[in-house]
Amino acid sequence: MGLFDAVVNKTNKTVASKKLSSKNKKTPKNIIKKNNSNKTNKKISKKIIKKVKLDKESKKLISNKKKIVIKEWVKTRVEGFDELLDKGIPKNSSILLSGGPGSGKTIFGLQTCYFNALKGKKCMYMSFEESIRELKEHMKVFGWDYEKVKDKMELVKQEPFRISRYVEGLLAKAKGELLEDFNPKIFPKNFKPEILVIDSLSAIESAFFEKEDNYRIYIEQLFNYLDISGVTSYLITEIQQEFRNFNTKTGVEEFLADGVFVFYNTRRQDLKERSCEVLKLRGVNHITRIVPFKIVDKKGIVVYPEERTFNDVEGEQ
Ligand SMILES: Nc1ncnc2c1ncn2[C@@H]1O[C@H](COP(=O)(O)OP(=O)(O)OP(=O)(O)O)[C@@H](O)[C@H]1O
Ligand SMILES: [Mg+2]
Repeated sequence: MGLFDAVVNKTNKTVASKKLSSKNKKTPKNIIKKNNSNKTNKKISKKIIKKVKLDKESKKLISNKKKIVIKEWVKTRVEGFDELLDKGIPKNSSILLSGGPGSGKTIFGLQTCYFNALKGKKCMYMSFEESIRELKEHMKVFGWDYEKVKDKMELVKQEPFRISRYVEGLLAKAKGELLEDFNPKIFPKNFKPEILVIDSLSAIESAFFEKEDNYRIYIEQLFNYLDISGVTSYLITEIQQEFRNFNTKTGVEEFLADGVFVFYNTRRQDLKERSCEVLKLRGVNHITRIVPFKIVDKKGIVVYPEERTFNDVEGEQ
């Protein structure tokens, strides 16, 4: 059974525990722990405890696996980018793709999905912004034929408000209790991707308008879920385009992510230059320089790891 199956089964278990717990109003519905949880835990039937234990064991197994077993590596397959990384990205990592508006985040996400799908990897592009039609149009511009990969590359459009409403409902039911685990409502049941792109966390965040705490809870749960699902994920976040300065709004995403790739689109006088960097990638030896890249018609992103940026050259003069 794959790790993703474990998660799907886990979701089924959650449904089962929901049914069992409906007789006991104080029993948490979605494996929810109370702050003073001893009393509550005693009330959970043995059957549920068994299921919860199983979940914890599988979590432990996975975290041990991460620590001990030689990692499998995932390539971005974005031209030039993998040369910034020693062997690639450790499988099951969560990577933030961050940058200002128009910096190339969506193109990077589509490109990594497309070229991995061509190599037979199952990929899912989950858009909270652009429609499936728009995504297909982007791909066409760069000469990526969606028909070639349609069995391996799933494009999904979701409404960010669906997420915020779900979290709100769940928190209202929990009545101040702590959510330990829940389904972040992003995976269709019939597709188990090896690579997932979420475009974007910023769109999801905007649906949590004036409820930033709920967004933080969702993000923590999302990262937990991605961690046990086995998927390698890219989470797009829009940041303010200050000169080579990186900060997400809440700060929680970069703390939870295993890696952060940043895309810049900077201006010096009348010259504009695209550049990118691997800001962090846990457990990987990587190039730490900011390197130039271009977005090329009929091709997509091309990174030039050997070249220096205009700003680097200018700084030396
Ligand atoms: N065919 C092309 N050739 C060259 N550059 C292009 C081409 N198509 C798009 N671009 C550039 O790519 C940019 C858009 O890239 P992308 O959609 O990946 O940005 P993004 O970071 O996802 O932006 P947003 O935050 O708005 O979603 C455009 O602003 C344009 O400068
Ligand atoms: Mg985009």
